[in-house]
Amino acid sequence: MARLSSKIVPQIFLLLLLHKASAILGAEHYSRADFPADFVFGSGTTAAQYEGASFEDGRTPSIWDTFAHSGRTGGATGDVACDGYHKYKEDIRLMVDTNLDAFRISISWSRLIPNGRGPINTKGLQYYNNLINELTSNGIQPHVALIHFDLPQALADEYGGWLSQKILKDFVEFADVCFKEFGDRVLSWTTINEANVAVLGGYEEGMLPPGRCSTRSICPEGDSTTEPYRVAHNMLLAHSAAAKLYREKYKATQNGKVGLSIYIMWFVPYTNSTEDVMATQRAKEFYIGWILNPLIFGDYPDIMKNRAQKRLPAFTKNESDQIKGSFDFIGLNHYFAVFIKDDSSTKRAIKDFYADLAVNFEFPESPAYQYPVMPWALEEMLEYLKQVYGNPPIYIQENGQMTRRNGTLNDTARVEYIHAYIGAVLDAVRNGSNTIGYFVWTLLDCLELLNGYGTSYGLYYVDLDDKELTRYPKLSAHWYSNFLKGKSTTPDPITQLKEKMTISWRQQF
Ligand SMILES: *[C@@H]1O[C@H](CO)[C@@H](O)[C@H](O)[C@H]1NC(C)=O
Ligand SMILES: *[C@@H]1O[C@H](CO)[C@@H](O)[C@H](O)[C@H]1NC(C)=O
Ligand SMILES: *[C@@H]1O[C@H](CO)[C@@H](O)[C@H](O)[C@H]1NC(C)=O
Ligand SMILES: *[C@@H]1O[C@H](CO)[C@@H](O)[C@H](O)[C@H]1NC(C)=O
Ligand SMILES: *[C@@H]1O[C@H](CO)[C@@H](O)[C@H](O)[C@H]1NC(C)=O
Repeated sequence: MARLSSKIVPQIFLLLLLHKASAILGAEHYSRADFPADFVFGSGTTAAQYEGASFEDGRTPSIWDTFAHSGRTGGATGDVACDGYHKYKEDIRLMVDTNLDAFRISISWSRLIPNGRGPINTKGLQYYNNLINELTSNGIQPHVALIHFDLPQALADEYGGWLSQKILKDFVEFADVCFKEFGDRVLSWTTINEANVAVLGGYEEGMLPPGRCSTRSICPEGDSTTEPYRVAHNMLLAHSAAAKLYREKYKATQNGKVGLSIYIMWFVPYTNSTEDVMATQRAKEFYIGWILNPLIFGDYPDIMKNRAQKRLPAFTKNESDQIKGSFDFIGLNHYFAVFIKDDSSTKRAIKDFYADLAVNFEFPESPAYQYPVMPWALEEMLEYLKQVYGNPPIYIQENGQMTRRNGTLNDTARVEYIHAYIGAVLDAVRNGSNTIGYFVWTLLDCLELLNGYGTSYGLYYVDLDDKELTRYPKLSAHWYSNFLKGKSTTPDPITQLKEKMTISWRQQF
């Protein structure tokens, strides 16, 4: 999904260069054969960003549709998106051309079970069966998320969605339907995508659905002091209950894996002062430990408990036992690192997650509409997960470069970024990281939640002015495809590719 655009902080650029000079750099020359044979390379999308057909064949609105139609995404909605509901076969041919092993999708709960619980929508069931069959019959593994920032609006209206523990029963029933109907072909399940960001975006900052926060000029409703902690707690309980169900009822016959995903910016101290170093550690605990400590150790980090006190719900012994170890992999979405400054002295009006955390973020410099290229940050992050969390199996479920969505197919910045980050993954794997897969975000330029149709991450451009929504491969699609077909990444892959590439499309861009 889309991310915050980086603020320009000139002095940070210097810091970044200093850091880089001393830091590990990703492998530069490599080929697919350098990775373990069973390492999975893929790309992905999600229901709300890809499918469109929002009101077709019995689907009801999700909280994403409600949020988009409230005007809070600048008018961009997923009503049509990339029209994947009708065009998936064409897109799977692109995946075959690109030589993907795997493709991430998510299931729109309100398409499959329109009221959130109760009867299954046979048209929705048919769509996901068709999509999954088309993937598997083309040799592409479907990796499926159950929640990707969407939830039936009916459940939000009825009891507040994730705010209520009533969600646990409904979520587990939804998961049960998915495991039962699709689990013979789907071997990788992510219960909730970016649990930490779903919570912060949806209940702390109000910039993701359901758009709740304490600041009334931004959000009509919400309470940032307690809701983010409550919702994350309910998500952990829901995840672990679904994972338990899978283990008890399906694992023996289906033999798939269940995991949870988090978004990680990596954190680097702004200076070497004790305050900034401690603030950086705190940021890791608040963003990563919030979800991973319960999953791996059975409880929240002590520093969160100390700072949030009663606003952070406590796990009962049973809950803790159920959550601890309730995963077969961790999904990581990662794009860049930020520099952390201690901000303990500022008194904040609202006693919320950010007040408890008490840091300032400084964003590294990068060209407009692009992320900074910091592959060393991914290596440090994977090393940290190895050392602190016992080296869990990891799928990097999202990584990729943002650009303007202006029709250029010559996306050299994306090629450079992906090339550098796959090199970083290789270095980490060579040094013992248990990373087992990597997915480029994203296959197609569809809807981005934060930027609508303004920026893009796709390997393929989608022409929204053309009623056929024609897809065109960018340079990055050629690069990724060459890499996946086993060609080694030569010293100057971009020049060579550019020579081969025919830009057959509107030259006026
Ligand atoms: C912090 O210390 C490390 C190791 O001594 C050094 O490489 C780095 O440049 C220092 N960073 C800053 C911002 O001074
Ligand atoms: C806790 O777990 C035990 C054993 O699994 C079970 O007997 C008990 O009912 C559970 N208690 C609660 C409150 O869920
Ligand atoms: C389109 O975006 C690319 C990458 O951000 C940029 O280099 C190029 O100048 C842009 N072209 C136009 C016409 O805006
Ligand atoms: C693609 O962009 C690069 C630099 O961004 C430029 O050097 C090259 O000429 C462009 N190629 C085409 C075919 O436009
Ligand atoms: C490689 O792994 C070893 C052992 O876990 C660790 O000590 C070392 O710091 C790692 N190297 C890098 C570059 O992360």
